[in-house]
Amino acid sequence: METKYQKVDRVVLIGSGAVGISYAFALMNQGVTEEIAIIDLNADKALGDVWDLNHGKTFAPSLTNIWQGDYSDCKDADIVCLCAGANQKPGETRLDLVEKNMKIFKKIVGDVMAAGFDGIFLVATNPVDVLTQAVIEFSGLPAHRVIGSGTTLDTARLRYKLGEYFQISPKAVHAYIIGEHGDTELPLWSRATIGPVPLHTYLETHENHKAEDLDQIFVEVRDAAYHIIEKKGATFYGIAMSLVRITEAILKNEHTVLTTSSYLQGQYGVDDVCIGVPTIISRKGVQEIIEVPMNEEEQKKFKHSVQTLKDIYEPAIK
Ligand code: LAC
Repeated sequence: METKYQKVDRVVLIGSGAVGISYAFALMNQGVTEEIAIIDLNADKALGDVWDLNHGKTFAPSLTNIWQGDYSDCKDADIVCLCAGANQKPGETRLDLVEKNMKIFKKIVGDVMAAGFDGIFLVATNPVDVLTQAVIEFSGLPAHRVIGSGTTLDTARLRYKLGEYFQISPKAVHAYIIGEHGDTELPLWSRATIGPVPLHTYLETHENHKAEDLDQIFVEVRDAAYHIIEKKGATFYGIAMSLVRITEAILKNEHTVLTTSSYLQGQYGVDDVCIGVPTIISRKGVQEIIEVPMNEEEQKKFKHSVQTLKDIYEPAIK
């Protein structure tokens, strides 16, 4: 009997630190891809992780083939997820990491491309917007095939917080954080809805809920990583699940909207920067960047965020 060719999805994870390995764990638990190759400078750590994950196979929803990889595995990869690099120490901003991680990325991306990679890069390492743009530069790939996690996690944090505040599922909260994944990010309050109702209308019709509380909710979202790092040294579950969501949207050709870090070429009147914006994600990677109408204040904040990223990226890439 003739065997039909079966396409198998492969994710190569580079960097099996806390974020990387939580990503692999969540991928496996959700049965998102058939193959995961794990590469880490610390070969023992990667191998130990592979063994540990494989021991859970009996309980996973589908079979995921997981192994300790090397760069040659990137040749047939659909997605290479970059989680390698230094992470934030207490008191450091994400932008403080730029020099160290840019160097690490130049080497890694060079090795991935030399292996004949022809898929989509998914970037998680901070500062994620700056490094996403650096990956476009280092890889020479079309910009739609390089995606940063951007403000996908910040948007999820906002929905969770608003969900708690209104006692409603975060899935019914349609609100977005855009801009830098970091201190200059902003909430798009003017476009937020609870179910189909504009957020501000919803607030007015619910006693005990005040517009001022929204500012506090946003500050908690923006500073969430600092608080988690203070408590436990690093953040990893939230970002890992955000990465899984993006991976799934790519592999299943979902055409769903996520606030990934995407490369702007004229959208929002901005050129040549990677920044968190609502993006239609498909098997192509960035299928389309959605241009959201913003009020004046939002426009001003977005511009400031763009400028902050440009001021960091341009000298760093030279
Ligand atoms: C955070 C890291 C991923 O926001 O930057 O948790």
